[in-house]
Amino acid sequence: MSKVIGESDNHIVTPDEYSLVREIIYRGSVIALTGAGISKESGIPTFRETGGIWDKYDISIYGNMVGLSSLIIIKPRKIKDFITDVYGGIISAKPNSAHISLTKLEDEGILSCIITQNIDNLHQEAGNKRVYELHGNLFVMRCMKCGKRQKKSKEELKSMLDNLKSARRHEILNLILPRCECGGRRRPDVVMFGESLPQSEFENAHIEVKKCKTLLLIGTSGVIYPAASLPYTAKESGVTIIEISPEPTSLSSLADYVITGMAGDVLPILFRN
Ligand code: APR
Repeated sequence: MSKVIGESDNHIVTPDEYSLVREIIYRGSVIALTGAGISKESGIPTFRETGGIWDKYDISIYGNMVGLSSLIIIKPRKIKDFITDVYGGIISAKPNSAHISLTKLEDEGILSCIITQNIDNLHQEAGNKRVYELHGNLFVMRCMKCGKRQKKSKEELKSMLDNLKSARRHEILNLILPRCECGGRRRPDVVMFGESLPQSEFENAHIEVKKCKTLLLIGTSGVIYPAASLPYTAKESGVTIIEISPEPTSLSSLADYVITGMAGDVLPILFRN
């Protein structure tokens, strides 16, 4: 029976059927597309769930550089709260059992790469080597004038946060957007709304999803493009799609198999590691 692209008579997998899905995964050539949900069990809030980032902060202001830059000038205390909240969660987070399961799957030669929308560096911290970061990385600062990138450690970001907490109004700008040697200002190397994704990361991700056998969708609501276009590209290439999520998402109807649950619970059992 031919499946119309974008539709699938997906199968809701019960735990006693995990062995069926495990067989598919252990064919190899697996790719994982991950979102904020995989880091939730590490204590990092998601974006669109109740209590998530965009539930607490107005996306039209905090989700783009124009809004953030105007806040730094007009309401610096508000930007302090946002930065402390977002950075604080990420700096103190550790990889959870879902991240570690994906590292083991890569070590076993089953997982080819991870394509992540997350900026928290937890896949790399867990030990995964091939990670495509579609939305950048919070631990990298990029000069807006010369483009030079500079990696920051958790300790360095934590020290910036500590200084920010006690900073006076006129000190906030230089803490959040510090000067580069060239005189320009550095910003976190992350993709805000209205900005382009890093071209090579997305191009490589697009190539990978077309040539893999299985695509795992883990912890993403599938509503942000162009990241959310990748599962459709995979589907057009005949890739088997397996979604792991506690609740239905915009991509559930595309999946061949849907496993309802938290990634930290499901992945260690599913990958038998
Ligand atoms: N395990 C797996 N999935 C989970 C878990 C968990 N423990 N907890 C929550 N989820 C699911 C939620 O049900 C939801 O479907 O993770 C998903 C998180 O969705 P979003 O908050 O929309 O996050 P994400 O899909 O990563 O957002 C994409 O939007 O704001 C931008 O740049 C930001 O990268 C982000 C992009």
